[in-house]
Order: sequence, then structure tokens, then C-alpha cells
Amino acid sequence: MKKFPYIGLDQHGLTSLMVDGNPWMGLAGELKNSSSSNSKYMEEKVWPNLSTLGLDTVLLPVAWESIEPEEGQFQYDLVDEILAQARKNNIRLVLLWFGLWKNGESMYVPLWVKRDPERFILAQHQFVGRSVSISPLCQPAIEADAKAFKKLMAYLRQVDGEMHTVLMVQVENEIGFLGSEYDHSPLAEEAFGQMIPNVLAEAFNKQGTWSEAFGEDGPEYFMAWHYASAVERIIQAGKTEFPLPMFVNAWLEQHPTYPGYYPSGGPIARLIPLWKLAAPSIDLYAPDVYVSDFFQACQDYSILKNPLLLPEVRRDPVTASNAFYAFGHHKAILFSPFGIDEFVDYLEYKPNTALLAELNIDLESFNCAGTSPYLISSYRLLRNARPFLLSNRDKMGGFIKRSNHDRGCILHGHECDLIISYQDSLPGKPGSAGIWMELETNTFMLMGCRFSVEPIQKRNTSKRVISLRLEEVTFERGEMLIGRILNGDERGHMICGDTASCFKMTVGYV
Ligand code: DGJ
Repeated sequence: MKKFPYIGLDQHGLTSLMVDGNPWMGLAGELKNSSSSNSKYMEEKVWPNLSTLGLDTVLLPVAWESIEPEEGQFQYDLVDEILAQARKNNIRLVLLWFGLWKNGESMYVPLWVKRDPERFILAQHQFVGRSVSISPLCQPAIEADAKAFKKLMAYLRQVDGEMHTVLMVQVENEIGFLGSEYDHSPLAEEAFGQMIPNVLAEAFNKQGTWSEAFGEDGPEYFMAWHYASAVERIIQAGKTEFPLPMFVNAWLEQHPTYPGYYPSGGPIARLIPLWKLAAPSIDLYAPDVYVSDFFQACQDYSILKNPLLLPEVRRDPVTASNAFYAFGHHKAILFSPFGIDEFVDYLEYKPNTALLAELNIDLESFNCAGTSPYLISSYRLLRNARPFLLSNRDKMGGFIKRSNHDRGCILHGHECDLIISYQDSLPGKPGSAGIWMELETNTFMLMGCRFSVEPIQKRNTSKRVISLRLEEVTFERGEMLIGRILNGDERGHMICGDTASCFKMTVGYV
């Protein structure tokens, strides 16, 4: 067995995050950006809320400015305190390395970096001059980040190499250049006029300069190549010390779809083949999903054998149903609504509309009012069922309502099919989504929210299928427990309501 968490195959041959010999299915949440910059704040305001929600994995930032306040002088007290708090609360961590880039800006770099723009060169816009983002072509900046990250990983190995409180590390955050398609600093302009690298020319069967090879996509490909190369350097430095799985997350390509409106050169789905060439050390590519079509975003990132990892997802109640689809259909490594520390005390949540507009995040997806009771129920059911689900991962499937017009789907069993009918979408409620499994021929398990199910004979068969028995199901430590037998007024259509629930249906033929 490998010693540290790693990305590998589970007992069914499915790619997973393997932790202490088992696949991880993290019922997670990501903290707000500033919460983990102070351990007292964490102790008082954050950990109590997290235990109410029933999380087992928390994603939180470690900022470069916190560990290297003076050049070459490293301090780890905050890391120590957060590790101790996580262990006390029995929670595993995914660290987010906020180094050179966070959402297209360089705001988490130490002061000594911010104060030295001669050495740490800023990317430039075409018309308005300097940005607040360090150029991905600035080698001294990349080397300084790589050095700090290497130190952090070496320290982590020393203090967590045995306990594995930290499972993975996200390197940088939503990388890319905002405001222009590419960096117009003199350094970058010179490189933009040069021939594309050979490895790219061969892989894409293109030649010439960036514009000659890729036409109007040239600027975005150019940025992607340089960001990916920088990340590769940083990850390599970290992995030589402690080879935990490392991933990057993406601000998705969305309306308006011109690079620069979303971070240009970031790891959006269609750029992953290029990123993989420049940065072979990245283990996973993860989408941050605030868009309404959760199905499509998950699909786009399940390409090229990339197992699904969801470090940031919507905060409104549909998140409580989306989790079933992510784990059921995609066998997700973890599912993590953003800003989880404010879900319980959501009355304190006041939307920063200007910021959300800047980040191109729609207000509804960010509104966590009323989400926590639904999320608590979903996570409770998933946690109790988890050992069962993991040992039957190969049999498990998932479904989800994609839009208001989507009325349902048909699931294909061995001898009969199941009609899944979705409920109308309502504001303030979870969506329709679930996990299903044929336990043995003609016996089905279904769990999730806001759908009903009815057995139906397969096409071109003459046997009529009926539900013979319907039972409520709960789980305890992975063991399936049968509750009420639903008969009389309760028989017939099995219905999962707003709050997550689970049923077993046995069918027969007449
Ligand atoms: C996406 C970023 O990755 C997060 O750090 C955060 O800024 C959210 N957007 C919005 O608050």
C-alpha cells in the first residue's frame, strides 16, 4: 500500500483519491477566502458551524503572504494551529495554495513581492497598462513561489507525513488573466511573436507563431501555455518534498465567452489537452461550478480520464441534490459548496453584488439562505450509506434534472426499466437528482431528492411489471436498515421529497 494519499485505482478499477487504502468520497465544503488567515477566528466562528453540517473534508487557503512574510523567513504557526484544529474536529483538509495567482490577480503574494514590481513584473493590458496580476512569464516570481511552496510541502511532510490530515493540495486558484486576452508586457509581447514550442506543434499539428498556429485562439493558448508551465515548475518543487496529489481549479468559460471576461489561459475544459502537455505533474483538473447546468459542467471535466473533483459548487439549496448526482454518476472524489462557514449563520450573509458581478457569479447560486437543513440531510444520508456505496461503486448510477423543461429519465435495469419523474423546480428547494442501484435483479435502491419512480416493462416485452414491495431505507455505518413497509395509501409511486431519503423497491411481473 502506498504511504501517502494518491490518485489511483479502487477495487473496481475506478480512478479515485486513495486514502489509507480506501477511495475517498469527501462530504466537503470550502471556507471563505479569509477565514483560515486567523486561527482564533477559526476556533470561534468556523469549526462549530462545520461540525453542525456534518462535513468530513474542508478546503481552506494557505496564503503565501502568511508563511513567508519576509523573504526567506518562513513561519508555520498558522499551519500548525489549523492542522491541530482539524484533527481535534476529526476533519481532513485540502489545502489551497494561494500563491502567485488567485482569480486572475496576485493579491496573496507577500508584501515584499507586491513592493518590487521591477523584479516581479506585472502583466499588462493593451490599453490601460499594468494589471494587478504578475506575469506568468516572470521567471523570478515563479521561482520565488516555487521556493515557498517547496518549503510548505517539506514542512507538511514533517508534521503530517504519518497522519494524512491533508489529503491534497490545490495549486493557485482560478488561474488566468482577466481584462485582456493576453499579457501585453514587453516580456510577453516578445514571446508572443515567437514560434510555438515544438512539443505543442507536434501534438496539435500546427506551426508558426501563436497567431499563425492558432488564429484568434492564439492569445488564449499562449497564456495557457505559460500559466501551465509556471504551475508545472511550482508543483515539481512541492512534489520533490511531499508528493501529495495536486490539482488546479477553473473559473469556467461562460457568457460572454471571450477570454479575458473569464480568466484567459485558465484550465477550462477545452484547454486541458494543452495544459497536460505543459504540466504533466498536475493530477486533476477541477471545475468550480456556479452555473446552472451542473450536468454539463461535470461532463466537461470527466474527459480524458479526469476523475471528478468539485472544490467549489453552488450554495443555494440545489447543491443538496446535486451531490447525489456527482457521487452517483461520476463517483466524485469530493463535493464542496463554497463559503461553507456561513451556511449555518446565513442571516449574517449579505451578498456583495458588485463582487459577484465582477466574478460573473449569478446571485442565486450564491444565496445560501435555507440551504443548510437540506445539505445536512443529504450529507447525513450519504455519510451513513458511504461504505455501502463505495463497495458497490461499479453498480451505482446517478441522474439529475438539467432544466425546467426536463421532465425525467428512464433507468435501465436487467429485466425492467424505471421511469424517474422529476418534480417542478421551485426556488428555495433542492433540485431533482438521485443515486440508484439494482441490488439484485428486480430489486432497486434509490436515494435523493424530489423525484418519483415507477417500474415499466422493457420495450417489446409482453410482461407487465408492478411494484411488489416498497420499503423505507436508512443506513448505519454502511449497513442498510429497512424501515416501514409502504403499503395502502403509501404504496405505489415511490417519492423522494425535498429532504433526502432512500427507498428499496422490489418489482414483479403479471
Ligand atoms: C471563486 C473563487 O475561486 C473563490 O475563491 C471565491 O472568490 C469565489 N469565486 C467567490 O466568492
